[in-house]
Amino acid sequence: MSLIYLLPSILEESRSEYQEIKNSIPGGRSFCPVERINHTEEESASLLARGDNLEFIQYLIREKELEGKIQLIYMDPPFYSKASYDAVIKLKSPLVDDSPAIKPTAYDDLWKTGMEEYLRMLCVRFFFIRDLLAEEGCFWVHLDWHVVHYVKILLDEIFGEDRFVNEIIWNYKSGGTGKRNFSRKHDTLLFYGKSKKYYFQPLQEKSYNRGYKPYRFKGVKEYKDELGWYTMVNMKDVWQVDMVGRTSAERTGYATQKPEQLLSRIVESCSRPGDLCADFFGGSGTLAATAEKLGRQWISCDVGGIATASSLKRMSVKKSTFTLLETEADEQSEELKVSLETEPIEFTDKKLVTVTLKGYDLDLRHIPLEGKDREVIKKFRKKDPLQLLEYWSVDFQYDGKIHNPQFSFPKEKDRIEKVCRQIGYNINKISIRAVDVFGNSTLTILQAGV
Ligand SMILES: C[S@@+](CC[C@H](N)C(=O)[O-])C[C@H]1O[C@@H](n2cnc3c(N)ncnc32)[C@H](O)[C@@H]1O
Repeated sequence: MSLIYLLPSILEESRSEYQEIKNSIPGGRSFCPVERINHTEEESASLLARGDNLEFIQYLIREKELEGKIQLIYMDPPFYSKASYDAVIKLKSPLVDDSPAIKPTAYDDLWKTGMEEYLRMLCVRFFFIRDLLAEEGCFWVHLDWHVVHYVKILLDEIFGEDRFVNEIIWNYKSGGTGKRNFSRKHDTLLFYGKSKKYYFQPLQEKSYNRGYKPYRFKGVKEYKDELGWYTMVNMKDVWQVDMVGRTSAERTGYATQKPEQLLSRIVESCSRPGDLCADFFGGSGTLAATAEKLGRQWISCDVGGIATASSLKRMSVKKSTFTLLETEADEQSEELKVSLETEPIEFTDKKLVTVTLKGYDLDLRHIPLEGKDREVIKKFRKKDPLQLLEYWSVDFQYDGKIHNPQFSFPKEKDRIEKVCRQIGYNINKISIRAVDVFGNSTLTILQAGV
């Protein structure tokens, strides 16, 4: 049956599913905080979660009481492209000579029963997103030609036609060309307000004068740069922003990573400093990174291990304060090998405590790789396994409940720190949490008794 006839049932069945979930007693796996990363004294509501976003949204509503509290929700879901996307991971070590970049699958955009299944997945989430938004809240969904036309119809029904604010065309240069079509060089973003009172701060952009010459109109401010004369005008709905370049400092290697410049426009125009901004298809954490830069609190969720490891590293490098959540974990089968040394400090009752990473035993069943890429991992596992880590952290005052590290070490410039020192007394239990490039995590607890 043609999809146009299926839209009403997609909408109604998704609405029933949403209502059923809302009225049900919580079941299944819940989320729990596994690490609290504090880089500032101030409290922060920022959260990074690994798990399915529909379950996570329920957790936010039930346990965090966030209904009606989120100012901005941006989502960049799979586009119904019927493809799989890789992450490019470059591992380097002086102990491993030949180490080409590996390309594990980061996520699949494959739908067994077609577009209907895909639209149902989105639609039920749209209902919950509407509930999470504050009265002045804004919702953005980032798509392209594959499904944006159908999604616009569904959102007009869920949010109300009169809550539609803008269709933004994001135009870029990169990507392929076609022989039988014009080159596809844009994505489409739909912007809705939760209510008519949605918050919006217009942004400005340059508008070059005809011929780049001055107009000299009375009362109009004109400026000049290397191209010529221009005025400042309210930003239009077609945005030229470059994709993240190969050599860009913000490049994470995660497939379909969006540029911070694009997200900055959304965050700046639709939220105020201190507001809560969320992304439930977080990928490498671009919304989180941008929100952090602009002084907003953020929530980012992704079901994938590579995405979570990548966001964790990214936000740790930015010295962000946030809580990491995971669903109740399966038994841990990776092992981090560490040594602990304590030395008295002369003329004091304090001791120097040193934690050193010695090795990492990755369970090969947890590697989503085949062929040559798998061989690269096996080589690293044997010769320099610590290079497989993306991040680790140490809590010298572990309370037996939550890992609350005083020191965290993201991998930076292909290098992972191996030693952590602390001077103190009354150090009893030490917890060390490590996350590898695939998102597998280990928690190791040591008895120091210092
Ligand atoms: C297009 S990517 C997002 C890229 C991101 N905006 C960035 O800049 O890196 C879509 C993401 O949605 C995630 N995803 C798909 N289904 C999900 C689900 N049910 N729950 C949580 N995340 C999901 C995928 O793992 C993938 O990382």
